[in-house]
Amino acid sequence: MKKIAIIGKQQLLSIRQKMQQYLIDNGLEADILDMETRNVLDWTDKMKGYNGIISCGEKFPAEVFERLHGDLELISRYGVGTDEIDKVAAAEHGVAVCNAAGSLSTAVAECAMGLILAVLRSIPESDREVRNNDWSRFFQSKTGNQIQDKTVGIIGFGDISQALAKMLSGFSCKVIAYDIFWNEEAAKRLNVEYATIEQIQQQADIISLHVPSTPQTNGMINKEFLSKCKPNAILINTGRGRLVVPEDLADALNNGVIRGAGMDVFFPEPPDPSNPLLTAKNTVLLPHTGACTIESHLKAGMMAAKNVADFFTGKEVKTILNPDYLKNK
Ligand SMILES: NC(=O)c1ccc[n+]([C@@H]2O[C@H](COP(=O)([O-])OP(=O)(O)OC[C@H]3O[C@@H](n4cnc5c(N)ncnc54)[C@H](O)[C@@H]3O)[C@@H](O)[C@H]2O)c1
Repeated sequence: MKKIAIIGKQQLLSIRQKMQQYLIDNGLEADILDMETRNVLDWTDKMKGYNGIISCGEKFPAEVFERLHGDLELISRYGVGTDEIDKVAAAEHGVAVCNAAGSLSTAVAECAMGLILAVLRSIPESDREVRNNDWSRFFQSKTGNQIQDKTVGIIGFGDISQALAKMLSGFSCKVIAYDIFWNEEAAKRLNVEYATIEQIQQQADIISLHVPSTPQTNGMINKEFLSKCKPNAILINTGRGRLVVPEDLADALNNGVIRGAGMDVFFPEPPDPSNPLLTAKNTVLLPHTGACTIESHLKAGMMAAKNVADFFTGKEVKTILNPDYLKNK
């Protein structure tokens, strides 16, 4: 009988138990393991003998696959981003990596919406002022901006962006987007126009990042990028911390190159106390809780468990991210 480990102790135990039951009902042996660190390298002795691991953002560097060679066949990500898993090394050892694509889209898109509104209307700052009996914002008519009729530039037009575009249409925004693999069907359906990065810089009042962290995207939001944006632009990052050079973004915010930023993600996490974004002007910061809704966690967890059951019963798993693994199986 194939053995599965469910790791990720930050996730609700009740959801992990539901996943465990689903796996057992599908003829698999399943254990819930609490790991003390988020690097599986520290834990490979406890992972020996497991054929599948359901992970939740833990690090899987190349050495993990050397140490678990022979037993491990699948890592099923309870979530979407897999930049923390060395997928090339996994494939070299015949290990497939899949994710729960689309399961978190509504939650993250709603979080991006919340950050847009929070930055445009200075909601967290106003909250702090009211608690300090400071009503100057009202008496001096310090104004924010409406979202209505703004141009929103989305970078990476995948699942989360498409959910966001749908929400933005309700606010009468013009949505433009860039992606290396353009989805014309989704664009037409959601009334989104293709734009180059340069057009997004020139036209967007709100720029929202939804690309994965890759060698091509890491550091894409740097001094040069920001210098070409509109001075009233706000940047929203619910993608990955590595997309942004924090020093360059903090400089741009503090010097009025752009107007504000809403960030759900950092690198590393938690951010170093010296990260200049922690003290930059006009920022709203969240602790990577974009996907943290009970609805999305349940959906992601059950999708991750289904992917495992499908994989070990020979059914197709559509979200395998390193199909090369088959060459080394
Ligand atoms: N904040 C959170 O809690 C949270 C939760 C889930 C996902 N995420 C992040 O959001 C990202 C997007 O998630 P998704 O579900 O929409 O993924 P997705 O795979 O559906 O969409 C990503 C899109 O980015 C495009 N892309 C990749 N490289 C690109 C490049 N160099 N330039 C332009 N486009 C590029 C892809 O073609 C794809 O369409 C994830 O990779 C993850 O890093 C964050």
